[in-house]
Amino acid sequence: MHAIVIYESLTGHTRTAAELIAQRLGTEGVTAVACPITNIDYQALSAADLVIVGSWVDGLFVVGQRPGRVGRIAKMPALAGKRAVVYLTYALDPGKALQKLSDTVSSRGAEVLGGITIRRDRIEEGTADLVDRILGVVPA
Ligand SMILES: Cc1cc2nc3c(=O)[nH]c(=O)nc-3n(C[C@H](O)[C@H](O)[C@H](O)COP(=O)(O)O)c2cc1C
Repeated sequence: MHAIVIYESLTGHTRTAAELIAQRLGTEGVTAVACPITNIDYQALSAADLVIVGSWVDGLFVVGQRPGRVGRIAKMPALAGKRAVVYLTYALDPGKALQKLSDTVSSRGAEVLGGITIRRDRIEEGTADLVDRILGVVPA
């Protein structure tokens, strides 16, 4: 399997998560690269069977949560025919932001298999969990 992790990150947590996800997938035999949404590796995207899209939770901490810079995600390259998984890093409460991210990635044409939220102080555990779940549904 070939995978690409495309992330939007303001202060680095989501980028760290993306790099860990690509690294962990790599050790499981999946070819994976991580790149920022502002500098997508188009060759890797074209080769990818699975696209993992990560962002952070933006909002007022208890209300109005949405994926950070969701406009960029809404305008990302078309993902028709690709399977996708999404994740969000957050501080306190992600609200309904994960569903919004999932809907936005679906709107690019991907089949979204699922997603998780990862608390920013549990990046290691969250990314390990995400990779386990990915390998549970998409064999390496
Ligand atoms: C402007 C702003 C708004 C935020 N709003 C929320 C929020 O509503 N709920 C929450 O749990 N975290 C919120 N956070 C925390 C971020 O989602 C969290 O720190 C995330 O891991 C940041 O990812 P990054 O380091 O990749 O930018 C907010 C952060 C910023 C900068």
